[in-house]
Amino acid sequence: MTVLDISLNNVVLTGFMGTGKSTIGRLVAEKMDRDFIDMDNLIETREGKMISEIFAEHGEPYFRQLEARLCQELSAKKGLVISTGGGTLVPEKNMRLISRTSLIICLDCDLEVLWQRVAHRQHRPLVQTDSGEDERYNKFAELFESRREAYRRIPLHLDVSYLPIPKVVERVCTCAQRQFGMSNL
Ligand code: S3P
Repeated sequence: MTVLDISLNNVVLTGFMGTGKSTIGRLVAEKMDRDFIDMDNLIETREGKMISEIFAEHGEPYFRQLEARLCQELSAKKGLVISTGGGTLVPEKNMRLISRTSLIICLDCDLEVLWQRVAHRQHRPLVQTDSGEDERYNKFAELFESRREAYRRIPLHLDVSYLPIPKVVERVCTCAQRQFGMSNL
């Protein structure tokens, strides 16, 4: 008989900005009765600043260092549901660290759907630049393309473009269930 130690496995949700990682992660954690970590929120709490302020005051490389350190820290934790930022697992080192203990699910979504969701939100420094709408969209599309390769390295994907949130939650829980051999959630 195989004994599955579910406590060793985190469920990690990643994917581009606007795919719903935080919302879905929180609901999955509730359903699985696990603690939930939203990496962006944790970074904001620890720094005492919003992500946009961190970018503005210290620059993006500093934020990426914070993300990398947090990946290191979380790779030693068990039994969590974690939502990453959109760029967190792009560096291979972070991806390797997190893969050690976690089932990583990448949420995919059509570019146009994502743009509708994020264009007018104010809290994302990579979207809220000083440029006009067209230029902002072009930069967003470029970033989307540049992330494809990194996301492609993740074995599990879920297209959430036209899937209602409860369905996404259900599918993520089913994946976790299969992976960890848990009873129905
Ligand atoms: C980023 C995505 C953001 C946040 C930061 C950088 C990115 O998180 O981590 O603004 O590089 O894609 P969300 O994906 O939750 O918006």
